[in-house]
Amino acid sequence: MRKKILLIFISLIMMVPIFSTGSKELVIGCSVYKYEDPFISGTRAVISETAKNKASVIFADGLNSQTVQNNSIDNFFNQKVSALIINPVDRASAGSIIRKAKELNIPTVFFNREPFVEDLKIWNDKTYYVGSIAKDSGLMQAKIIADYWLSHPEADINGDGLLQYVIFRGEAGNQDTELRSEYCLQGLTKRGIKCDKVASSTSYWNRAKAQNAMTSILISKGSSIEVVIANNDEMALGAIDALKVNGYFTNDKFMPVVGVDATASALQAIENGTLLGTVLNDSHNQGRAIFNLAYELAKGNIPTSKSIGYTISEGRYVWIPYKIVDKSNFREYIDKTETIGL
Ligand code: GAL
Ligand code: CA
Repeated sequence: MRKKILLIFISLIMMVPIFSTGSKELVIGCSVYKYEDPFISGTRAVISETAKNKASVIFADGLNSQTVQNNSIDNFFNQKVSALIINPVDRASAGSIIRKAKELNIPTVFFNREPFVEDLKIWNDKTYYVGSIAKDSGLMQAKIIADYWLSHPEADINGDGLLQYVIFRGEAGNQDTELRSEYCLQGLTKRGIKCDKVASSTSYWNRAKAQNAMTSILISKGSSIEVVIANNDEMALGAIDALKVNGYFTNDKFMPVVGVDATASALQAIENGTLLGTVLNDSHNQGRAIFNLAYELAKGNIPTSKSIGYTISEGRYVWIPYKIVDKSNFREYIDKTETIGL
């Protein structure tokens, strides 16, 4: 009899979930726009690392389709997860997600693709956004380019006093695409540098797409390009792939190329002398802030700057600062860049 009681007791202990507050297991649903994006994979790795021994995070791949993402979010709703973390395929979809989340009382943290503020206001205190101020990354790219341009008169290859540039963009309408592009050019103009667009390619953050586009641009306008601006590192690296095939980065033939993110491959390219510079898009701190927020919400608390360890602005935003990364400081970031491989 005593043995039986002991067995029941042991099995009861074993039934208690590992991550719990009271009796409810904390399950957080996280849907990202697509797994196959190195920057997003890095953030995912940090979220999952930060969650260890606290909550279980179920990840879902949106496969870059809002329909697929909506289905996985519906699954999370049906499972009655304690909180949601969403990197929306289309930021305009946030409103309907928040309305449903409110109805079901499931708080949500958005990241990387910023919902419109009117949508975030649908459910105050239970809806947040973690990201970085896109405008700043554009201004930082401008500083990297301007420092180079102003100290290398030979960079004005055709000597016309204008900076002939090619720009690689993410998808239209994305805040990072629009603001990085706009403020990089504005930052150059403000420093008195007159810019002349040679070509623009929407390469959807993708290395292979940018490589293909750059290959064609080099065929049609090769000799007139003086700088390559890319909205992210993957596209900068794709352009570099094409430039290498065309004889750049050997025998003093150089092209200044700038990106954003500071992924491991980009840091490597800075070391090799192919990438002039990039801007740290800090997946470490973004990932931690995202999880800490979702965790507080999942426990039923209203998060505070103190409880999550990051400043909450206007009651709904956590802004993680960008930083310029170039030859002078890239080594500081090598260990901080996430390895991809979830
Ligand atoms: C940007 C990042 C890109 C890409 C994009 C997806 O912040 O720099 O590499 O991940 O988000 O929206
Ligand atoms: Ca020129």
